[in-house]
Amino acid sequence: MVGGKGTRLRPLTVNTPKPMLPTAGHPFLTHLLARIKAAGITHVVLGTSFKAEVFEEYFGDGSEMGLEIEYVVEDQPLGTGGGIRNVYDKLRHDTAIVFNGDVLSGADLNSILDTHREKDADLTMHLVRVANPRAFGCVPTDEDGRVSEFLEKTEDPPTDQINAGCYVFKKELIEQIPAGRAVSVERETFPQLLEEGKRVFGHVDASYWRDMGTPSDFVRGSADLVRGIAYSPLLEGKTGESLVDASAGVRDGVLLLGGTVVGRGTEIGAGCRVDNTVIFDGVTIEPGAVIENSIISSGARIGANAHISGCIIGEGAQVGARCELNAGMRVFPGVVIPDSGIRFSSDQ
Ligand code: GTP
Repeated sequence: MVGGKGTRLRPLTVNTPKPMLPTAGHPFLTHLLARIKAAGITHVVLGTSFKAEVFEEYFGDGSEMGLEIEYVVEDQPLGTGGGIRNVYDKLRHDTAIVFNGDVLSGADLNSILDTHREKDADLTMHLVRVANPRAFGCVPTDEDGRVSEFLEKTEDPPTDQINAGCYVFKKELIEQIPAGRAVSVERETFPQLLEEGKRVFGHVDASYWRDMGTPSDFVRGSADLVRGIAYSPLLEGKTGESLVDASAGVRDGVLLLGGTVVGRGTEIGAGCRVDNTVIFDGVTIEPGAVIENSIISSGARIGANAHISGCIIGEGAQVGARCELNAGMRVFPGVVIPDSGIRFSSDQ
């Protein structure tokens, strides 16, 4: 499912769908597709809507990745459930595994499929145990692993198991989702399946899991991939403190820390310190800049001695020398901030 608008990541998602944002050196979705391939699955259908053409332009028929990729486009976004229903005609097997296209996960896909078979389930949901279940709706299961209910966010959740955004469906269940209208799989389809007494099971583990939907999660997920905390088959043997494209120019005395990624053709001037940050392609960072916990989009220019912390800098934006940008600020594409134009501290 890759049809979402990715509004929480704007302005990164104005021109690029969220699953195609550069993450640890590759469009995010490529890491997921590589995991799917590594699990021995080769036929993939992408349910697209927003910026649908971008996916096909990049992945084509999938043969370069050893996959067979097909595309289904929704004229109107159909939501997660409607999007699953909309690909029904393309499904070739009695069992389909469905992924949210913006989840970074270390789960073993074959053991989720094994659970589905062992339990003779109609639907098997990957449930992940998290340290902060209060932030999510939770999904309790009984002693046999059968899902008992779907609970909204609460201050006192009865379990730490949450919906990890990966489901194994019996194909016939997908046909029963109403066609041609927006449906939420989480709010409508799943509760209805429970009411109907369908065999809905959880596959519970404590594998790496992160929804890449917010700026801070996006940065953290990318950094975790770079450092090998989250696994991607694409980064085997390449993990470390930073990931720098071979065509980037990084001057002397630059510190790249905390899983920072530096994209193609990006230039970083002497004495910069860049920590836990995703830098896209063709960015220029002038000497002495300090950047942390941020995303710098393609073609942006960051002036000398600028300080940027926890921000998104949009495509082609220019941040002047000595500017100080902080705490969730989003600079929109093409915006030009003059030298010393925005500061937090009073001194010049
Ligand atoms: P936000 O606008 O920031 O909430 O992001 P989003 O639009 O991606 O929504 P959300 O994170 O809830 O979506 C979860 C997953 O479902 C993502 O992989 C989306 O791409 C996908 N998705 C959401 N809405 C649709 C839709 O209408 N159609 C399809 N095909 N996929 C969708």
